[in-house]
Amino acid sequence: MAWVGPPAAGYSRLSSLRPGRPRKTLQRIRPNAYDRTMDPVSESQVQLNEVCKRYGDQVVLDRASLTIERGEFVVVIGRSGSGKSTLLRLIGGLESPDTGEVCFSGADLGGMSERERAGLRRQSVGFVFQFFNLIPTLTVAENVQLPLALNELRKEEAERRSAALLRELDLPHCGQRFPEELSGGEQQRVAIARAVAHEPALVLADEPTGNLDLQTAGRVLRLLETTCKRRGATLVMATHGHDVAERADRVLTIRGARVEENSR
Ligand SMILES: Nc1ncnc2c1ncn2[C@@H]1O[C@H](COP(=O)(O)OP(=O)(O)O)[C@@H](O)[C@H]1O
Ligand SMILES: [Mg+2]
Repeated sequence: MAWVGPPAAGYSRLSSLRPGRPRKTLQRIRPNAYDRTMDPVSESQVQLNEVCKRYGDQVVLDRASLTIERGEFVVVIGRSGSGKSTLLRLIGGLESPDTGEVCFSGADLGGMSERERAGLRRQSVGFVFQFFNLIPTLTVAENVQLPLALNELRKEEAERRSAALLRELDLPHCGQRFPEELSGGEQQRVAIARAVAHEPALVLADEPTGNLDLQTAGRVLRLLETTCKRRGATLVMATHGHDVAERADRVLTIRGARVEENSR
């Protein structure tokens, strides 16, 4: 996973991932280089302008242009291999387009260094993946605290936040357990808690219910949606499921490498 940056001191297992550094609060580091270049009111959350992406000879995205506003819930549908994950990785700055622009709150990701993009992901983006991607050697609570540690939040505050999030996601007694001791649905709820722990402006969810049974998938989906809505976070979700699309503010379809806005 692409978490980059130093953890706060005092995280026993977590601090083995990175060398320790003096603690700062999340609030103190929030006004960063990206925020200064952004107009918090008028800029769209995400904007793609004529984005092209190919792997070898295969054109995956052809002149994709789209705008996503703050707080929107946008679903991206398309058959397997159509480019949904690629689109999410481009939006999250995990990949760069061959041509065209990807902007986050008005700032062009292409104009940033890799270090700046990593900082943006660390502070402003939360990811939820199909296969949960929890760290097996960390407890559930430590997994949820990971983005807070990487943002150098004080340990006590991180513990308080992770406990509150686990309660909110109906996992109040799971903090000291390890991911493998939980069901798939429970693991994905932990992943949702981790994705929103640092209060990102944008949550990217790549087929988050693709590995769950139908009933569990419905519950996880509603929790993901309400957890993001409650925080005013923009949610962009890739999925196969057309039923999910009914709940979204907007639906984008990828077909033949083109991103189309569904009219409803
Ligand atoms: N890193 C990569 N290298 C080469 N081809 C890739 C890579 N990532 C994705 N692809 C190809 O790009 C196409 C779109 O992939 P992807 O975005 O994962 O689709 P989806 O998420 O809709 O299933 C697929 O044909 C896939 O094989
Ligand atoms: Mg995919």
